[in-house]
Amino acid sequence: MSETIQRFLTQVAESAGQSTLVKMTLSKPVQKHDELRNVYVKPVLIKERRLYAFTYHYERRDEVKNYDVADMLKILGEMLPMRFLNAVLFTVDEDVALLVSSKGKATIQTKKVQECREQNLEHDKQKARLINPANPWWYQLGLTTREGKITADMQHKFKQIYKYAEIVESLIKPMKFEDTVHIADMGAGKGYLTFALYELLTQRLNLDVDIKGVEIRPDLVLKINEIIQSNHLKGLGLVESSIEDYHPEKLDVLIALHACNTATDDAIASGIKAGAGLIVCAPCCHKQIRQEMERSGRYDAITRYGIFLERQAVMITDTIRALILEYFGNKTQVMEFIEMEHTPKNVLLVGRKTSKNTKDAKILEQINDMKARYGIKRHYLETVLDLNA
Ligand SMILES: C[S@@+](CC[C@H](N)C(=O)[O-])C[C@H]1O[C@@H](n2cnc3c(N)ncnc32)[C@H](O)[C@@H]1O
Repeated sequence: MSETIQRFLTQVAESAGQSTLVKMTLSKPVQKHDELRNVYVKPVLIKERRLYAFTYHYERRDEVKNYDVADMLKILGEMLPMRFLNAVLFTVDEDVALLVSSKGKATIQTKKVQECREQNLEHDKQKARLINPANPWWYQLGLTTREGKITADMQHKFKQIYKYAEIVESLIKPMKFEDTVHIADMGAGKGYLTFALYELLTQRLNLDVDIKGVEIRPDLVLKINEIIQSNHLKGLGLVESSIEDYHPEKLDVLIALHACNTATDDAIASGIKAGAGLIVCAPCCHKQIRQEMERSGRYDAITRYGIFLERQAVMITDTIRALILEYFGNKTQVMEFIEMEHTPKNVLLVGRKTSKNTKDAKILEQINDMKARYGIKRHYLETVLDLNA
């Protein structure tokens, strides 16, 4: 490394040490057609630690990574002048430009600035999109073209993914995590929502994650894990398991979207047992309760009509789920996931853990009344959680 570049790096190190580094840019790629066009660096405060956020601007996507000072200097040393010929360090009172000619001659130009600048340790949140279709996994998952354009037949799916990301962001943002956020996505399927979750948490909310997608189909697990590995996505992986047999020790957030029939109950039970702070599920088919209602032969003015029996079974299944969540100290909310035209399975059941473990007898009474009215012996969730313990 030339002495001039070394001198520039020393100035970067000093400005970092003195907390005067406002931002930095690396530009003019050595290779004209380098996919990485430029890099923008700024200090950020993450869990009381001053780190440096590198935004890598590729031709079709951005990627943000955070480093401590030592790693920042190491990376700058690797990139200058091998990858970029220009770098500008903006401090509170001067601009220091490193210019390397095509022949490799490096010079430094320093300019005092008049304006009053300050370090801003906030993230540039507006830069990280909620979901970026240009991320290569969306192409690998079959939602976009190689150029990152959503394909015509995946527009609806993408809309659903985006809506989901918006809702999950609003639910997760107010939560406090000690360290790594432990998440299980039960019944991950093709992984669309699992990747959306990963992208949202790591790229937009800058959180350390341990996200496990739980899926029973080995072909899906294999395919998705290959995509994860090819993109080096740390903290994300699919586990081949049934939801019933997956018992995470540490769980902050449980997600179960469209897990079939009682698999939703197994997921909810797992979240309650592990003490998850947030449980989000979009129930799928509701066979168990409907079959019990039919078996009882006890029809009322509503359920004597087949379609209404079906709908009532859905309402009862999910109402009892919500009540059981409340019984175990969760504040519950039922919301619409997406407009009906995109999917009929559009109800989202949300449980947020509160400090009280109510085990309120009135809740049991409500559940029992409902069951008695429709001739239901047991809701499946009662068989996997002991309500009387
Ligand atoms: C309808 S897909 C939903 C996928 C994804 N969560 C979504 O909403 O796009 C349901 C997935 O759950 C898986 N699944 C169903 N029952 C399961 C169980 N008991 N244990 C694990 N996976 C299960 C299925 O194989 C399927 O891939």
